[in-house]
Amino acid sequence: MQTLDSIAKLHRALEGQNSVALVPTMGNLHAGHLDLVKLAKQQATCVVVSIFVNPLQFGANEDLANYPRTLAADCEKLQAAGADIVFVPSVAEMYPDFDGQDLKQSISVQLPAVANDLCGASRPGHFAGVATVVLKLFNLVQPQLAVFGKKDYQQLFIIREMVKQFNLAIAILAADTVREPSGLAMSSRNGYLSRTEKAQASQLHAELVSVCAQIKQQSHSANFLSLEQAASLNLQRQGWQVDYVAIRAASTLQAASAQDSDLVVLAAAKLGTTRLIDNLSLKL
Ligand code: PAF
Repeated sequence: MQTLDSIAKLHRALEGQNSVALVPTMGNLHAGHLDLVKLAKQQATCVVVSIFVNPLQFGANEDLANYPRTLAADCEKLQAAGADIVFVPSVAEMYPDFDGQDLKQSISVQLPAVANDLCGASRPGHFAGVATVVLKLFNLVQPQLAVFGKKDYQQLFIIREMVKQFNLAIAILAADTVREPSGLAMSSRNGYLSRTEKAQASQLHAELVSVCAQIKQQSHSANFLSLEQAASLNLQRQGWQVDYVAIRAASTLQAASAQDSDLVVLAAAKLGTTRLIDNLSLKL
């Protein structure tokens, strides 16, 4: 496995490779990320994992400065998972006009309204930052396929839409969310939770399981709005600051209607200062 910090070295390493998979990450890798690498490895001979904490997708009051950076441990895990190349660019490498303070990325991907909904409503500009850096990584690595986690359902949806609308010849594969035995979805941000919060954090997944069970039971006569409100209230009573619980059509991310059979239930909520997201898909 090669660890490369420049675009020039990356291009040299990729010369002659024609079966390349990209797994974009921000590092602090857990079992969920390693599953993405394993899936990539089944599909391509050369697996590139990027580790880049992308400033463009963080809001002014978010955790950019404190985001966990654990490169040595990440590289050990990636070696064991079978990655071929770890691409660890600097901010200046990814943002050529960066002046040490300002990224000066004056061109970015313009996204549809779905990017301002759900997580985008409380994180303005987040998905434009994600899409822009992912497009840069696609251009740099030129992979035949890229793998993303279903935990970031809205991100996955937006990237698929970008690939389709920009006619990119890249297959997007989605890997299932990996969970702790408690049901808590694995996330780098779980590391911010105190011991007590960690014990409580599986309530988010439990609430989604309960919403799905109620939808299954009530089927097409389910009242989605009242299920969303009841789930939010349950979480609030348990001490969560709820951003949203939303029942959406899986293929459009629009509010689900009684006719939809392919659904996704998504939630975002804060426990203490840690914002967690999760989702579950279901078919009626
Ligand atoms: O999901 C993430 O870790 C990031 O949003 C991504 C896709 C690596 C872009 O920075």
